[in-house]
Amino acid sequence: MGFREEIEEYSESKTGKCLPAGFDHFKRVYALAKKLADGYDDDVLHAAALLHDIELAGEEHEKDSASAAEAFLKTISFPADKVYAVMDCILNHIPEGNPKSLEAKMIHDADLLDFMGATGVARLSGMTAEDWFEKTSLGGVAEVWEESQSYTTNLFLDRSKELARDKVAFTENALTQLRREMRMGD
Ligand SMILES: [Fe+2]
Ligand SMILES: [Fe+2]
Repeated sequence: MGFREEIEEYSESKTGKCLPAGFDHFKRVYALAKKLADGYDDDVLHAAALLHDIELAGEEHEKDSASAAEAFLKTISFPADKVYAVMDCILNHIPEGNPKSLEAKMIHDADLLDFMGATGVARLSGMTAEDWFEKTSLGGVAEVWEESQSYTTNLFLDRSKELARDKVAFTENALTQLRREMRMGD
């Protein structure tokens, strides 16, 4: 088994059933990230995408995930000189991260793009809004959707901003619809 398969097997076994930020999210982040720029190190991008949310329980999941990724990558045949670059991507993937390398910017932007549009609406609704943001009403869910709109201003790459435009328009429609539906109960 090559190191890519080993990473995917480990990632899926740890997070396969975690809907908001599990294996499905990791695969979407990898696919999205690859669309955002050219000339990147695909080993780093793949490992960072598949491991960036591997530890979600603590207060600083980016640090916990980076440490877990480092420990795991050192146990497989992953190139030793690329481990730090993967950790750097994971540490800076959060919205307020400060990615410097191309791969880190790609992972950062892809992670935010997966909070937006139809996928974002599905991920951030209901249970997730309650679990992550202590929102317990439709109005609270709308607040979370609105917050995801502002992630546009955190994006770094031009292609990310291009992809975001369509997603922002969709979420705007969803917010209008949700608010209209909420008023129907008055
Ligand atoms: Fe994350
Ligand atoms: Fe993520």
